[in-house]
Amino acid sequence: MYQFKDYYNNQVTLSFKDHPFSKTPGHVWVICRYKGKWLLTKHKGRGIEFPGGKVEKGETTKEAAIREVKEETGGDVGSICYIGQYHVDGKREKVVKNVYYAQVDSLSPQQTYYETDGPVVLSALPADIKEKLSYSFIMKDDVLVHCLEYIKNRLPAK
Ligand code: GTP
Repeated sequence: MYQFKDYYNNQVTLSFKDHPFSKTPGHVWVICRYKGKWLLTKHKGRGIEFPGGKVEKGETTKEAAIREVKEETGGDVGSICYIGQYHVDGKREKVVKNVYYAQVDSLSPQQTYYETDGPVVLSALPADIKEKLSYSFIMKDDVLVHCLEYIKNRLPAK
């Protein structure tokens, strides 16, 4: 279990155990690989981030993860696995989010990318993301750092 503050100074708790905070979290976040690169999206307000969003009524969290990747990047998920869950103790609300690691097999142009400008494919993530204005606040706390470490050490290269 890891505890740290986010970009807005909210308390975040991250765990790689099986759904430690909620069996039915309201949000998902998907760290995506595509052809050996990272696949992200550019949110119109927040900037560049891995795709994700809210779980809709009637869908599982994994279905939400696959849908969000398609909506925000045009990517078709070939394989996906749960890696952990985090809790954000926000000023107004509390958020519980599942983190997934996904392999995207193909990208197809979409009519709309909803609240984003569509896919962003990167060979490497910048080392100084925390200082970069073009990146979203959700990429700027230790959730990303620990998840990338987990992927590197525990999951086969994709
Ligand atoms: P919409 O309802 O989609 O307009 O978004 P919202 O920002 O109003 O609500 P959401 O439920 O997505 O998030 C509520 C608050 O929780 C945000 O303002 C953030 O402070 C926090 N939050 C949501 N997701 C994350 C995240 O991935 N990381 C961190 N650190 N905070 C988050």
